[in-house]
Amino acid sequence: TQTPTLVFAGSTRAQSWNRQLAGAVATIATAEGAQVTHLELADFDIPLYNADLEAKGTPRDVVRLKEIFHAHPAWLICSPEYNGSYTALLKNTIDWVSSPIKGDPEWSNGTKAFTGKVVGLLAASPGALGGLRSLSHLTPLMLNLQCWVAPRQFALSRASEAFDPDGQLSTDFARSNVKAVVDQVLWATRQFQKA
Ligand code: FNR
Repeated sequence: TQTPTLVFAGSTRAQSWNRQLAGAVATIATAEGAQVTHLELADFDIPLYNADLEAKGTPRDVVRLKEIFHAHPAWLICSPEYNGSYTALLKNTIDWVSSPIKGDPEWSNGTKAFTGKVVGLLAASPGALGGLRSLSHLTPLMLNLQCWVAPRQFALSRASEAFDPDGQLSTDFARSNVKAVVDQVLWATRQFQKA
């Protein structure tokens, strides 16, 4: 059976390299047998987290996001690097998804959407390090949420030269590194489902 796999980028920018990378990751993951949901965070109206806001009721789009995250045992995240770390958008999304749905006992444990998920981390940047430092910050964040983080990660450097006009990765090097992350995530997810 195919592994439901969520693919998304921590950027909503129209020309985002990480959104492009997420598209290429989705193509490769589909070819590797995953059942891919390619999520665009821009499709969700998510305010900046504030507990006062949440006390009035979890916003509808946050509930939608929580259900989607929860429904996928495997996640592939493409993270931009801002000032040596991940984006506020990504952190805000994770903070909202990690908090309980008010009044829903099933969601009283805030980490429900995260616990036991297998997460593959990738990054893209126009710079020489490819956003590698965002991954070194994202790794402990995901571990803290009880996710299994795949040891294999990939940072796509010089992103402005890395894609074909059709949006796919232009080098064997990049494709094989993305495939290695995807394969490890799908393999680990299958192992946990057997257990
Ligand atoms: C950046 N950028 C950046 N790049 C990088 O490799 N390391 C960094 O520390 C930073 N810092 C940084 C801070 C801020 C506030 C911005 C706006 C940008 C450049 C960044 O990699 C570039 O804008 C990417 O294009 C962002 O990712 P998307 O939107 O293309 O996916």
